Amino acid sequence: MELPPATIPSTDPVHVARMAERRAELAAALAAVVPAGVRLVLEIGCGHGHFLTAYAKAHPAENCVGIDLIRERIERAERKRERAGLANLRFVRAEARMFLDALPPGAALAAVFVLFPDPWPKRRHHKHRLLDEEFFHALAARAGEGTPFFFRTDHGPYFQAAEAVLRVSADWRLVPGEPWPFEHTTVFQQRASRHFSLVARRH
Ligand SMILES: C[S@@+](CC[C@H](N)C(=O)[O-])C[C@H]1O[C@@H](n2cnc3c(N)ncnc32)[C@H](O)[C@@H]1O
Repeated sequence: MELPPATIPSTDPVHVARMAERRAELAAALAAVVPAGVRLVLEIGCGHGHFLTAYAKAHPAENCVGIDLIRERIERAERKRERAGLANLRFVRAEARMFLDALPPGAALAAVFVLFPDPWPKRRHHKHRLLDEEFFHALAARAGEGTPFFFRTDHGPYFQAAEAVLRVSADWRLVPGEPWPFEHTTVFQQRASRHFSLVARRH
């Protein structure tokens, strides 16, 4: 089954109206859980929340938000958070670009993790990949000077494509050799025989 392209804006008025409604709902939900002026550690595509729950537990002074498209994954992540009793962690069902757009104006990103994003290996599906020039630009708009971006994948071609975008980015600089800040094996990492990691920082 061919999925509809996620990155090509729809001109269907019903779709446009639904997206505007969803964005307004998300903005209201975020305004309720993201305190004014907060700096957030964001994990995009958090799945069932294993990584960010462990991270938030180990970093109680940091405010963490995990987002994912799939409701069932967010519900499981929320149950994990409740069991762990973590007040510095939230999971929200949201699409990454819409999340950045709907984030309250005073909120900024302290750090961003993208771990094992869907690789969309076929060339005709590359347009569905999250990490492209436009996305890094939108991310930079919500990041402060020096904000780190942590990316890990087992898919070599996607890794190289994202690295190539960052290498020539006006917003980000690659930081080769910067250590990975926190190790906790994700569900997809467990299934992979190897992986690649990079760190970039906002100019
Ligand atoms: C391959 S899974 C990896 C999950 C987890 N990070 C791990 O390493 O186990 C990718 C996750 O990203 C989510 N995802 C894909 N595109 C997204 C988007 N545009 N915004 C938010 N989440 C997205 C998917 O629903 C899925 O749960």
